[in-house]
Amino acid sequence: MCGIVGYVGPNSSLDVLLAGLSRLEYRGYDSAGVAVLDRAGHLGTRKRAGKLVALLDDLEVEPLRDGETGIGHTRWATHGRPNDGNAHPHLGDNGKLALIHNGIIENFSELKQELLDAGETFTSETDTEVAAIMVGREFRATGDLAEAMRRVVARLEGAFTLLVMHEDVPGVVVGARRNSPLVIGLGDGENFLGSDVAAFVEFTRRALEIGQDQIVTIRPDSVVVTDFDGNDVEPREFEVEWDASAAEKGGWSSFMAKEISEEPEAVANTLLGRVVEGAIHLPELDPIGDDVLASIDRIVVIACGTAAYAGLLGKYAIEKWARIPVEVVLSHEFRYSEPVIGPRTLVVSISQSGETMDTLMAVKYASQAGARVLSICNTQGATIPRESEAVIYTHAGPEVAVASTKAFVAQVTALYVLGLHLARVRERLSAHQIAEQVSELQQIPAKLADVLVSSERIKQLATWMADTRSVLFLGRHVGYPVALEGALKLKELAYIHAEGFAAGELKHGPIALIEPGQIVFVVVPSPRDPLSLHPKVISNIQEIKARGARVIAIAEQGDTAAIALADEVIPIPLAPPLFEPLLAVVPLHIFGMELASAKGLDVDQPRNLAKSVTVE
Ligand code: G6P
Repeated sequence: MCGIVGYVGPNSSLDVLLAGLSRLEYRGYDSAGVAVLDRAGHLGTRKRAGKLVALLDDLEVEPLRDGETGIGHTRWATHGRPNDGNAHPHLGDNGKLALIHNGIIENFSELKQELLDAGETFTSETDTEVAAIMVGREFRATGDLAEAMRRVVARLEGAFTLLVMHEDVPGVVVGARRNSPLVIGLGDGENFLGSDVAAFVEFTRRALEIGQDQIVTIRPDSVVVTDFDGNDVEPREFEVEWDASAAEKGGWSSFMAKEISEEPEAVANTLLGRVVEGAIHLPELDPIGDDVLASIDRIVVIACGTAAYAGLLGKYAIEKWARIPVEVVLSHEFRYSEPVIGPRTLVVSISQSGETMDTLMAVKYASQAGARVLSICNTQGATIPRESEAVIYTHAGPEVAVASTKAFVAQVTALYVLGLHLARVRERLSAHQIAEQVSELQQIPAKLADVLVSSERIKQLATWMADTRSVLFLGRHVGYPVALEGALKLKELAYIHAEGFAAGELKHGPIALIEPGQIVFVVVPSPRDPLSLHPKVISNIQEIKARGARVIAIAEQGDTAAIALADEVIPIPLAPPLFEPLLAVVPLHIFGMELASAKGLDVDQPRNLAKSVTVE
């Protein structure tokens, strides 16, 4: 979850590192630090608890001598409280070596004891300092930083990305990765390392992937990648599709406000190139092949958080269109249930970051168990796609705000596209029927733009409700995952107790929570809904209104029953049932953001959370 950046080249290391850290801060933000080798060959470090701005203020007051080699880190604490001492970098070899780390070194206690027995001393409570001291000792023995790193990683258990630099080897940064992200940025006479491409996209869009259990050495004019045994590896080069401006706020008050405004575009871009004359075109599924897709007998979707709710919507669509049973399992629960999977199971992982450790481990487990593995991911060069047989990239663009918004609608779109593809290869829908659904999907971006028009009204509601302590969300059928997502956003962003329920479950317990003034959002199915769920949900509204609830309905334009009953109706344009969630979810994203803003909270970086959860 931490953010990592490394630089070697002729420019100011500090400028490059701080620019990278500001883009990576979404990954972790409880402390930050840098190490720079100045031009006289002296290693200087500075680190501060708090957000990056605390480090920036500190550097302003007392500048660090700049140089051409440096590493920087933004932390999300695992071992040791978020204070100055536990912030990275950590030092080894009598302060001549600096090291930063993302992940958890699981066997750090026994390694620490070994080092204490050997007379080493520690200044922090972190697992990371163990690695810094170990690499320092190995460097003293070998004089070779990459070899020292190789010797140390052979002894580490757990997940880690490590970057190290040493006073005696200016112009060199060595990185290593196991189950934790790291990518290389290729410059002209300069090179970069980063947890993801956001770290260096301002300087270069040429990037190299680093695989699992590999070590990279960057110098201004060379990049060498080996495996943990020292054998050379040829990394794959790719071009970063977005530029630095795409990751800037662009005039919005927060990244989240910008990203919600991009929800129409996220859907449109995810469809781009995948619809050809009304048919679905998904050549990225070729590594699995239509024959295999035609013969699978079950789909298991694995994901966490918002991505898992996207998976729940995918289940309704894939089961309806392709008639394959779909199960949605939280990634961290998946392997422990000894899942019944094999070559006829398609495991579909969903992850915006492509780095969520729980999902990565579930993907590896599924591969080893012989299942076919497809991932839906928003981040190029990420680990989960590399561990999968095929990948459908969502093209939502960089998502910086910690709580996911635009990636959600892009994930749902990708799942629907997959569902229609499966319906074709399994001959469950005709070309004409697929074209009809595709046409509805293509209308969603324009309808989403209409939904965004309600933003001001939702902001007013959120401002009035700023003191609310509990909000409930009800939905039925495809409205149920929307209710879950609405509740999650409110918890994540506004720190308010919120729960989502299947509306039909109300009478089996949750109705006991209703007391006068309780705010309940209800996602109302269309009155034209062929499943006839509309009257049932309207009855639910009556039941809770009778007990004093204040109801805010998300309902189709012109739904007179909802208008008559609810205290407030947020209208959404007409769409077939399966597509309604893409429209209904956006007011809930806006509500979560605005309520948090009304409470004066930081919507981009909520407390205790991290964008990319790279620990289990
Ligand atoms: C974190 C974020 C959530 C996100 C989840 C899954 O918990 O705070 O917003 O939904 O991770 O992330 P992924 O990158 O796998 O989609």
